[in-house]
Amino acid sequence: MIRRFSRRLKRVTVDALRGTKRTPLRIGEQKASSWYDAHYAGSEEYRKHYTESVYYAGWTVICDRLLRHRVTSILDIGCGPGQFASLLSENADNVQYLGLDFCAEAIRMAESVCPTCRFLETDVFVDRNLEDLDYDAVVSLEFLEHVEDDIPVLQRIRPGTLFIGSVPNFPSASHVRHFTTTEEITERYGHLFSGFTVHKHLLNRAGRCLYVMEGIRRH
Ligand SMILES: C[S@@+](CC[C@H](N)C(=O)[O-])C[C@H]1O[C@@H](n2cnc3c(N)ncnc32)[C@H](O)[C@@H]1O
Repeated sequence: MIRRFSRRLKRVTVDALRGTKRTPLRIGEQKASSWYDAHYAGSEEYRKHYTESVYYAGWTVICDRLLRHRVTSILDIGCGPGQFASLLSENADNVQYLGLDFCAEAIRMAESVCPTCRFLETDVFVDRNLEDLDYDAVVSLEFLEHVEDDIPVLQRIRPGTLFIGSVPNFPSASHVRHFTTTEEITERYGHLFSGFTVHKHLLNRAGRCLYVMEGIRRH
């Protein structure tokens, strides 16, 4: 396991030094829901009030954008333990929110921090809410990099719907890919949306960042 990880790390480093184009970078692997159960159960970060999260600044931008678009119903794919939902529910009255996540621990945590929102423990690759539910915006924050089949999920968003998502520029055990430029993100996802934009939001002085993307699902 350690040997496999260091082989991958070496390959990524060699490619970076050679200037070889590998888009996007890979280090981690797609995980089962049980992995996230253990991850959340042992995490201080995800138990913090949303204002103390390293993602807070980025989330406020996303919340503001949703409010400017006057959305009234939001589907959140890979919602996690409810920190963004809490922020949203405290700033956006009358917005119906449904968060989907296949991790039981995340859903338990989300329901306890944000009792006014709805959450569903479900695997997004089996769940039919993207097809069946009435929603006018889809958000997916730090989820797409966790799954191999990121593009098929986005393809299921109803045409004409606002999408706001975020992806990181750093590797992690559960990231199947990450990005290093806004162009890489446009290259991977831009064809699915009209009016597609990507903005970089710095998370810390070491250069970690979130890329926030937005667009309308194409017809
Ligand atoms: C890094 S977390 C992001 C959580 C939250 N959106 C946030 O920004 O704090 C990624 C989430 O995706 C969820 N996830 C991964 N694969 C999934 C799947 N197939 N169906 C539903 N949720 C999934 C994980 O359980 C995890 O909660």
